[in-house]
Parts: sequence; structure tokens; C-alpha cells
Amino acid sequence: MQKTIYIINGPNLNLLGKREPEIYGAQTLSDVEKRCLETAQSHEIDIVFAQSNHEGQIVELIHEAREKAQGIIINPAAYTHTSIAILDALHAFDGPVIELHISQVHKRETFRHHSYVSQRADAVMAGFGTHGYQLAIEHMGMLLNK
Ligand code: DQA
Repeated sequence: MQKTIYIINGPNLNLLGKREPEIYGAQTLSDVEKRCLETAQSHEIDIVFAQSNHEGQIVELIHEAREKAQGIIINPAAYTHTSIAILDALHAFDGPVIELHISQVHKRETFRHHSYVSQRADAVMAGFGTHGYQLAIEHMGMLLNK
């Protein structure tokens, strides 16, 4: 059976390409989605690519992934640093979780250095730019097929 990964993006990532491009780059979220689809196809993985500005909606997406996916790649954006609800939802998910940040958060303001989600994540990526999504899919493919 072909494996499914949920790729979940948090608040303000809908503005990718327009928002602080010196930090987050020039690619839009739909550019990122397109590349993710290509990478996933070449690894014979199905993806569900989602973005929400709402914490509860992200929790719902994680619940949905419990039923439909074997792995989660999540960029929780600002909720990384604040959300126990997202951490708890991820604790209720059984498969591998990769936490991804486009920017190198540890080089930035100290409030970005703490992540609730890291307490659940099996791998944490930061500073690979939007290319990180492709790397995360490749790694997830490896985790799911071993
Ligand atoms: C981010 C880093 C977060 O600190 C920030 O709030 C974001 C994006 C990143 O991808 O680098 O919105 O998760």
C-alpha cells in the first residue's frame, strides 16, 4: 500500500514569498506544494499538503492524519513556540513526525529557540530554506519504508 504523509503548515505561511523574503525566501507556498508533490511522486508517496492560520484547525488536521497518514511533516510556524495543544495532538499520532522550519530559528530571537513540538518530533530541521520540505519528504520516505 502506498504511504501517505500529511505536510502541515502553520500561521502566516500562506504569505510565503511575500512575507520577509530575506528570511523565508522567494518561493510561494504553492511553489513549495508543487515541489513537494514532485518529490513525493518520485518516492511513491501520497501527500496531503495543508496550511492554516488557526491553531484548532491544525489540531484537527493532526487528528485527520491519525486516520489517514503514516507520517507528518509539520512547520507549526509561530505555534511552535506556544502551542501545547499541537504538541498533545502530535502525541496522539503514532507515526514519525518531522518538525521543519524554513529559517534557522536558533540564529534568531531567543523566543524562537524553544519549541513545544520538539518534545514529540523524531527529527527537527531548521535553516534549509524551502528546500527543507523536499529533504524532509526524502527522509520520511526512508523512515516509512525501512
Ligand atoms: C518558522 C519559524 C517561526 O519562528 C516563525 O514564527 C514562522 C516560520 C520557519 O519556518 O522558519 O512563522 O517556523
